[in-house]
Amino acid sequence: MKYIFPEGFWWGAAVSALQVEGASDKRGETTWDRWFKLEPNRFFDGVGPKVTSDFYNRYEEDIELMKELNFNSFRTSISWARLFPKGFGEINQEGVDFYNNLIDKLIENNIEPVIALFHFDMPMAMMDLGGFESREVVNYYEEYAKICFELFGDRVKHWVTHNEPIVPVEGGYLYNFHYPDVVDCKRGIQVAYNTAISSAKVVNLYKEMRAEGKVREDGRIGIVLSLTPSYPRSNNSADLKAARIADLFFNKSFLDPCVKGAYPEELVSILADRNMLPVVEEGDKNLLKEGVVEFLGFNYYFPRRVKVRENAVNAKAPFLPEHLFEYYDMPGKRMNRYRGWEIYAKGTFDTLINIKDNYGNLPIFISENGMGVEDEARFRNKKGYIDDDYRINFVKEHLKWLHKAIEEGCNVNGYHMWTLMDNWSWMNAYKNRYGFIEVDLEDDLKRTMKKSGYWFKEVAQNNGFND
Ligand code: BG6
Repeated sequence: MKYIFPEGFWWGAAVSALQVEGASDKRGETTWDRWFKLEPNRFFDGVGPKVTSDFYNRYEEDIELMKELNFNSFRTSISWARLFPKGFGEINQEGVDFYNNLIDKLIENNIEPVIALFHFDMPMAMMDLGGFESREVVNYYEEYAKICFELFGDRVKHWVTHNEPIVPVEGGYLYNFHYPDVVDCKRGIQVAYNTAISSAKVVNLYKEMRAEGKVREDGRIGIVLSLTPSYPRSNNSADLKAARIADLFFNKSFLDPCVKGAYPEELVSILADRNMLPVVEEGDKNLLKEGVVEFLGFNYYFPRRVKVRENAVNAKAPFLPEHLFEYYDMPGKRMNRYRGWEIYAKGTFDTLINIKDNYGNLPIFISENGMGVEDEARFRNKKGYIDDDYRINFVKEHLKWLHKAIEEGCNVNGYHMWTLMDNWSWMNAYKNRYGFIEVDLEDDLKRTMKKSGYWFKEVAQNNGFND
């Protein structure tokens, strides 16, 4: 069967500044640099974000590779600490030059830049003020965004306020995989709330600047959310409720304020019952209402399987969302045995239909999807490249469901793979490889296209594939 995608469909990949750029001596300290300094052993193989994929110095070579892959779009983020080493104040001109050159080079090669303002790399000076837990930092973030729009808004058409804003909340305040590495749901909720406020402020600012002709007239601003469809174990009302609660905490907590402009009442009442509502400021409601995004990036890796809580929770344990439900280890679920995440491609379809039916069918693209593989060098073939048929099958399967969603009327306009090239991934460092391009840590970060890259370049060229 033929799977052909709409004209102008985006084919590309995503990376993030801290994960690929390196050149850490040419930017301010981030939470990741500090955390690595404090506890290097918690990072896979004791590797920190100092060099990563050295994109800062090799972006021209990497754009050549993107061209070879027939990309027509590419997402990266701006490192806040590279533009403002302290988060505000004096600007680092070298950083400005780097992003100017990068953006120009992408456009010159007909690769549409999609630019995120924040992808997990909080400047340490901002974290010292409380990170997004503090409204002061929200204001600094808005100032930083304004400068980005002024500097690059004449060329960049697609802006993203945040990448996966739920993840720093989960990592930093619930499950110990981001700095500040505490378990405190109430603080996490404040961070989540302030992050949604920061997004709304920046969306409003962008809309104002566009109305004043200060950025491109055809520019658009959106957000990238990691959405994990929540499937109940059964249709029993208790299981259904459990799945609904997981959905409220992990999806709707950002989807609703950012796309609908208001929080779901059920979530508010769950939090109110536990005395966990965040501190709000006058005017916030309106801010959220007006600051709704114009497009959505949807990162998809795996679904959530949920059932009613059957085991009692230790009464002394600090509150976590899963005290209100339990994860369900569904027998027979298909696993990515190289990374440990479930593979369930239909999750893309179900989520896209949900967005169409309940969120006004706003433009959406798959902004990350990919298959992590541990120790991938073992799959290098005699010709010297990684033979990753597993990844080709993974992408193909997801694209088929995407195609079906488009047939059902979903407003999907692109597919970005996570990721262009193997990169440094937070605490997991270089453990899980995701790229179309291998980066050889043993051989001066040499780039080699994987089999999936050769496959994808045909798909991008033909705007689809036969299967
Ligand atoms: C995504 C993030 O959720 O997962 C990326 O946006 C991250 O930044 C990716 O690298 C893969 O994560 P991991 O833990 O498998 O390396």
